Order: sequence, then C-alpha cells, then structure tokens
Amino acid sequence: MAESNTDTKSSNQMWGGRFASGPDAIMEEINASIGFDKKLFAQDIRGSIAHATMLAHQGIISAEDKDKIVHGLNTILSEIESGNFEFSRRLEDIHMNIEARLATLIGPAAGRLHTARSRNDQVALDFRLWVKEELEKTEKMLTGLIAAFLDRAEEHAESVMPGFTHLQTAQPVTFGHHCMAYVEMFGRDRSRVRHAIEHLDESPIGAAALAGTGYPIDRHMTAKALGFREPTRNSIDTVSDRDFAIEFLAIAAITGMHLSRLAEEIVIWSTPQFGFVRLSDAFSTGSSIMPQKKNPDAAELVRAKTGRINGSLIALLTIMKGLPLAYSKDMQEDKEQVFDAAESLELAIAAMTGMVRDMTVNSARMKAAAGSGFSTATDLADWLVREAGLPFRDAHHVTGRAVALAESKGCDLAELPLADLQAIHSAITDKVYDVLTVEASVASRKSFGGTAPSEVRKQIAFWRARN
Ligand code: ARG
Repeated sequence: MAESNTDTKSSNQMWGGRFASGPDAIMEEINASIGFDKKLFAQDIRGSIAHATMLAHQGIISAEDKDKIVHGLNTILSEIESGNFEFSRRLEDIHMNIEARLATLIGPAAGRLHTARSRNDQVALDFRLWVKEELEKTEKMLTGLIAAFLDRAEEHAESVMPGFTHLQTAQPVTFGHHCMAYVEMFGRDRSRVRHAIEHLDESPIGAAALAGTGYPIDRHMTAKALGFREPTRNSIDTVSDRDFAIEFLAIAAITGMHLSRLAEEIVIWSTPQFGFVRLSDAFSTGSSIMPQKKNPDAAELVRAKTGRINGSLIALLTIMKGLPLAYSKDMQEDKEQVFDAAESLELAIAAMTGMVRDMTVNSARMKAAAGSGFSTATDLADWLVREAGLPFRDAHHVTGRAVALAESKGCDLAELPLADLQAIHSAITDKVYDVLTVEASVASRKSFGGTAPSEVRKQIAFWRARN
C-alpha cells in the first residue's frame, strides 16, 4: 500500500488506462481530496459492503468474491481505525485509497467491487450517510440544550427581570419566560433538523455515473441495508445535487444565529454593569494584564463561530450555483465546508449547553433592574383604561406625564405620592399602586404565551412532554 507521493511518472492505477503518464504535481495537489475526505472512510466501507452483498445476491458477482471483498473491507476498517493505514495522495480520494488497499489484500476479486457503481454515486452515498449521522447528532444535542433551558426556566418561573426592546428597558418579564423564548427557537431548529433527515433519507447508490446501470441491481436492497427509507428516483439528480449538504448548512446557520444571540446576551448580562448572571471559572478566562477581569470567552467564540458557519453556507451555495447537470468536480469542494461547519456547530451547542447550566443567576439584581426605567408604565396606562374607562391613547398620554414627573423627581413610578398622580388625573386612586410593582405587572400578563408565571409553567409542561 505504501504509495509514494513524489512518483508522478506512472498513470493512476484506478483510471489510468488511457493515460501515458501521471499528473503534474500541481494537478495532483488540486485534484486530491484524500486530505479531507478520509473522514468518510466508515461510510465508504459500509456502502461498499452493502453494494457487494447486493451484487452477490443478484448473481452479478460470486459469493466467494463477495466474501473476500467483505472480509478485506473489514480489515481495512480496523486498519484505519487503529491508525495503521497509509493514505496516499496519488490515489486521490478515500474511495480509491480503500479500493487500492483492497486489491493488495485480496487480489483480483477487489476489481469486481466497482461493478455497477461509479465514484459519483459512491461519494453521493458516503456524504449523505455522513450528513445524516451529523443531523442525528445535532438533533440530540439540541434536545440537551432545550433540557438545560427547561430546568433553568422552571427554577426561575417567578424571577422578574427587565424585558427589553431596542435594548432599552421595556416591560418586566420573568427570566423563566426569557429562557422559554430560546426553547421555542431551538425547538424550531430541531424540527428543521428532523425535516432535513426526512428529505435526505434516500439511497443514492446504484445511480452509477449518472444514467443508472445495465446490471440487474436491486437498489431497494442496498437502500434497506444502509438504513435509508427508499432509493432515490432519478439517477441524474442523485449524482448532481448537494442540496442535502446545503440544507444542513442552512440549518446550522439558523441555529448558529440563535446561539449567537444567546451568546451576546450572556456577554451583556455578565458585565459588572448588568450583573444578571455570573459564569463560573469553568466557562470564563482571566486577563493576563488586568487581574480583576473575568471574560466570557466561550460566549464570544460561539458568537464568532456563527460567522464561520455562515461563510460555509455561502461558499457551498456559490460552488453549486450554475453547475450544469450532472456531476462536476467542483462538487468535491462540498466536504470541507460541511465538516468545518459541523465541528463549529457541535462545539457551539455544547459550550452553550454548558453555560446555560453553569451560570449563576442573580435574581435580586435582575429584579432591581426590572423596577427601574419606568418599566411598569404600560401597567399604569392599562389600569387607567380598565379602572377609569380612559381610551388607551389618553391613558398613554397621562402615563407619559407621570413618567416625566417621576423622572424630574428622580424616583420610580411607584414612589410618586398619590397627590402627584391625582394632580395629573383625578380618577387615579391608591389602588393603582397594586399594578406598579414588577411582580404585579408580570402576574397580570396571563394572555396565552405571556410572561405570567402561571403561563410560563404551562409552556414548560408543553415542552417537557415533547423533549
Ligand atoms: N473525490 C470526488 C468527490 O469528492 C469523488 C467523485 C469523483 N468523481 C469523478 N467523476 N471524478 O467529488
């Protein structure tokens, strides 16, 4: 097997029949994908075993050859897994590296494996299997992240915090409600993952180069053996498209966008100025010059990984754009983007799950912040509508005057004396103070999906039953 990378004189042993000499060194470098597609070794071997088994079952190759092939492939699998396999760039890619080693191990029978198959359907199969496994992993990881949020939401169903719009204090909400917002986002991401698995759950093998094959193969048999729902229905489409990989990247980008918003909130919340949460030493780093600092590096890196994932999505969309059917070598550039994005996404979800479970929530600090910034102004306006019969627009105006007065006095709405409030509108009574506290404010927002602790608990129960 030991192939030398410098010997460029002889032609490729897999496809070099019509070639008088080997490739230029640069040709070899630009052409080879083994540096990254060796990641597909397990999928390639699984696919080949299923293919050889089907060929024998259909009488296309003999049972003896099939047994030799399967035995040889299993040997190669353990060689690669134990690090005892020498990959060769001269053999271009994972498919030919494995097939060449098979020939060394079992002799001429190896040459029968590629019957009724092309590298075009082979790579489509290997990559689809890999992306399918990655999607399944992502689904599990999102379930873990959702579980972490459900626990924090339960713990903080009653903890009041300021809700923001424009990052300006808007209305009091509960921290549990805020956590549940992320449960909804990651729940949708997970359902996108499930749909993507359904879309790609078709077996490409047997599409051959692009037109199918004249051999009496059984594509339903290989589909079943490889755990696919059914075989793909159009051989040209099968070797042409990489939409399954783009869909993975799109989902990764959307999930990354959600993760980056959470990351940004953690960065903001953990500043001394906010002080809403504290990350433990396990999820922060120190500064080499400023001893007092504790930096949320993990959250910042999650924020950054999102940019990287977006880059991969745009790269693959651009690679595929305008390619004529069917296969073109451009498509070999699909893998690195997906591998890199998958690694980033896995890391980002894992780090976020860790941080959500790890962070200490400072409820007292959140509550104090919730009460400042006139956050119960809407509650005052609603009270005027409900109790004094004012039209909402008038109530809004009256409340605006109360806010201006409190601001000039340097106090909160709840601290304004009744006489001051009555001077603004005579219908105001001391009952109004019941709605000016942040607890009363959140408890009153019982509309479906609202921030009242009773509603938040209903949504937690809904998700617990589905997680
Ligand atoms: N390494 C190639 C890829 O990743 C495998 C398919 C090659 N097919 C071909 N017709 N040259 O796309």
